[in-house]
Amino acid sequence: MGRALRAYASIFSQPDLPRDQPGCGYYRKMDKLLSGKIAVVTGGTRGIGRAIVDRLLAEGASVAFCGRSAEGVQKAATGSQAYGEAADISKPEDVRRFFQSVDTKFGGMDILINNAGIGIFRSVAELTPEDWRRTLDLNLSGVFYCSKEALARFKRRGGGYIINISSLAAKNAFAGAAAYNASKFGLAGFSEAMMLDHRYDNVRVSDIMPGSVNTEFAANPSDADWKIAPEDVAQVVIDLLRMPPRTLVSRVEMRPAKPPRKS
Ligand SMILES: NC(=O)c1ccc[n+]([C@@H]2O[C@H](COP(=O)([O-])OP(=O)(O)OC[C@H]3O[C@@H](n4cnc5c(N)ncnc54)[C@H](OP(=O)(O)O)[C@@H]3O)[C@@H](O)[C@H]2O)c1
Repeated sequence: MGRALRAYASIFSQPDLPRDQPGCGYYRKMDKLLSGKIAVVTGGTRGIGRAIVDRLLAEGASVAFCGRSAEGVQKAATGSQAYGEAADISKPEDVRRFFQSVDTKFGGMDILINNAGIGIFRSVAELTPEDWRRTLDLNLSGVFYCSKEALARFKRRGGGYIINISSLAAKNAFAGAAAYNASKFGLAGFSEAMMLDHRYDNVRVSDIMPGSVNTEFAANPSDADWKIAPEDVAQVVIDLLRMPPRTLVSRVEMRPAKPPRKS
């Protein structure tokens, strides 16, 4: 095993030890899955991103997150291992500044969660060029800007993991979602090509594709107990990070188990 690969394996590999048995070697050496790891989560101030931030922190990682609103970042701040900054991921200059802050605060990164996204749901006739640009600039170009920053940093550390919070809208078109569908279909192609570009650099790339999740993203967030909980998406993030480095789960589809029946 080469030096870079060994370094990477030590970042993400979970040895085949009986982790559920107290007192085993795993627990003696390392009490949490992500102790010592550094993660960046875009759009981490509420919803799915916030649940992912909380879970990564609980697993021992240091976590940097952003949102556009400084007030939202302030409200979400959670302890010494978390760092929040107001940054608009659709703007390359904000992305550059945010990642430089991560360098200053934590000295590198191992995991990127591309989560920030918006949905503007209008028919093509009703969509404005501004709606179109806002959607594509964040959901697709923002992922490119952040991934590029992350890849440069992974290179210095011998590898890393990028997880995109995509959507079932990356494979299922629906009326009123042309801009959102275009952004998430585009993300699916971008993400797979990035995986093929960088798999031999010890970089893994996964897309999580949820159906309806119970967040403020939806037009009517109330009365939605049947939806996927943000914490369930965070659970899938952790499950992916737990996979041994030899295996890449490139896509995960998740959907509410029992959505309301269509009458
Ligand atoms: N909820 C669903 O049903 C669902 C289903 C499938 C996939 N998804 C995907 O899951 C991701 C998260 O959705 P969510 O439901 O958690 O949304 P949400 O509750 O609306 O939260 C979005 C987060 O992203 C931030 N954000 C929005 N625009 C941003 C920008 N330009 N730059 C930086 N941060 C920005 C928001 O903070 P600020 O407003 O302060 O910027 C907030 O922290 C999205 O990519 C979405 O497409 C959601």
